[in-house]
Amino acid sequence: MIQNKKELIKIYLNINLLKQFLFFFFFLIIIHHWFFAYFRSILFRILSNFYNEFKFSDCFMHNLNMESKIKFKKFVTLCLVFTFLENICSFTSDNVNVKISRLMYRLGDNVEIDSTSFPHINFKKKTGLNFDDILNEKFHFDMNAHDVMVFLHIQKTGGTSFGRHLVQDLDLQRPCTCQRKHKRCYCFRPNRNENWLFSRYSTGWKCGLHADWTELTNCVNSELDKNEGEPVKRRYFYITLLRNPISRFLSEFKHVQRGATWKNSRHWCGGRVATKDELPKCYSGLTWKNVSLDEFLNCSHNLAINRQTRMMSDLSLIGCYNKSYMVPTLRNKIILASAKYNLASMAFFALTEYQKIGQYVFEEIFNLRFAVPFAQYNSTRSGAYIAKLRPEQLEKIRKVNELDLELYEFAKSLMFKRFERLRSRDSNFKTRWQHLGELSVQAEFNWDEEIEPESPGNRFNT
Ligand SMILES: *[C@@H]1O[C@H](CO)[C@@H](O)[C@H](O)[C@H]1NC(C)=O
Ligand SMILES: *[C@@H]1O[C@H](CO)[C@@H](O)[C@H](O)[C@H]1NC(C)=O
Ligand SMILES: *[C@@H]1O[C@H](CO)[C@@H](O)[C@H](O)[C@H]1NC(C)=O
Ligand SMILES: *[C@@H]1O[C@H](CO)[C@@H](O)[C@H](O)[C@H]1NC(C)=O
Repeated sequence: MIQNKKELIKIYLNINLLKQFLFFFFFLIIIHHWFFAYFRSILFRILSNFYNEFKFSDCFMHNLNMESKIKFKKFVTLCLVFTFLENICSFTSDNVNVKISRLMYRLGDNVEIDSTSFPHINFKKKTGLNFDDILNEKFHFDMNAHDVMVFLHIQKTGGTSFGRHLVQDLDLQRPCTCQRKHKRCYCFRPNRNENWLFSRYSTGWKCGLHADWTELTNCVNSELDKNEGEPVKRRYFYITLLRNPISRFLSEFKHVQRGATWKNSRHWCGGRVATKDELPKCYSGLTWKNVSLDEFLNCSHNLAINRQTRMMSDLSLIGCYNKSYMVPTLRNKIILASAKYNLASMAFFALTEYQKIGQYVFEEIFNLRFAVPFAQYNSTRSGAYIAKLRPEQLEKIRKVNELDLELYEFAKSLMFKRFERLRSRDSNFKTRWQHLGELSVQAEFNWDEEIEPESPGNRFNT
């Protein structure tokens, strides 16, 4: 052992090339990651067996000569020893919190996603620019450049009204032009005919009906390339709405009871659409019309359950819709963490229950103004409906939608944090808040509107 140590030091001193140093550095990082993850115990064993039997050698070292083999072996050992020592040191000298925080994903807004339970999962940042990026002043949404707003519209969250606000109520240099008949608007950049908004009313359901995070992040770019005829490097600003999970679930139930199915949703993930076996239908026949709430709740693979968490998460992390890929408890943990991560990585999100805050935050982030105040969704009706439920029904709704409830709480506290940050830096806040949705009187005079008298056809008013 001691003899080896001396040799190791010698070899260490021999490492003088930058290349080797870099290799060593990255190797250390990788090993370190492993070490902390689920390889901790295995590495101990490898380390102790290392000198006697170098079992990996057959796999990838057969074409090295003996000397290099030994060198390589020692090199790897050194890395392991370093990693080992570093971990021992940090374990003994620091408190456990420090340890854990290193395993958390740090996001903007000081949001941390605890990943201790699944360290081998690698959350990827694919959601474009986040709130912090934008607040740092470096990344203003630039309509003349290649910035695209992508609206992730989850069913029954109030996304239809919000989507309409986007296409018809923003005070833009070049307003969207809408065709009432087709329920479609052209939202083009001021300087060229290119979409800056990816949403149902502008581009249509190009990535599938109510496309989720997994579908959008894998599809928007290529769809826009196709649309514009050439690949362009764009910056994405994802936006979405979340709603109280109990109200949302009941609202979806009512919608299904009236005959909605969203059966044209693709559920695309991992390079293919989900199969019928992976997503069995809860009903026979064409729709689930007249379904009772008990039946609706009784179907364990009902997509309404935890819909917000599922649609916000990176489903490729859990083997998509293949339920035998991992056990349900782990699956749930991962999609919840992933949904939180993706939500916090978005440029903007709002909660249906806080329309005014949503409007203010949107206007501040994108430096755009709406010409109307957002109406607060009247919760009296759904409140009355909830009051009529049997206690065990309400309890069951809560229980099955546990993930959505936790995601919503997370979203709520994050939203208030962001709102506070924007408010504290806005010297004009009081006036802005009082007059939200009123464009200032000095707004540019719109000649087009003067020539064409106001007609119901100018805006769809459904
Ligand atoms: C749903 O209920 C209505 C009225 O109760 C009835 O007329 C209709 O046939 C039912 N539809 C289905 C698909 O069962
Ligand atoms: C719920 O499902 C179980 C079996 O999966 C069935 O026995 C029961 O009758 C169902 N209850 C309702 C209210 O549909
Ligand atoms: C689902 O996952 C299991 C376990 O990983 C695998 O054996 C199976 O082939 C997968 N099914 C499909 C349809 O990919
Ligand atoms: C909400 O609806 C109820 C009944 O439909 C009505 O009495 C109440 O004034 C409404 N509230 C708001 C804020 O619109």
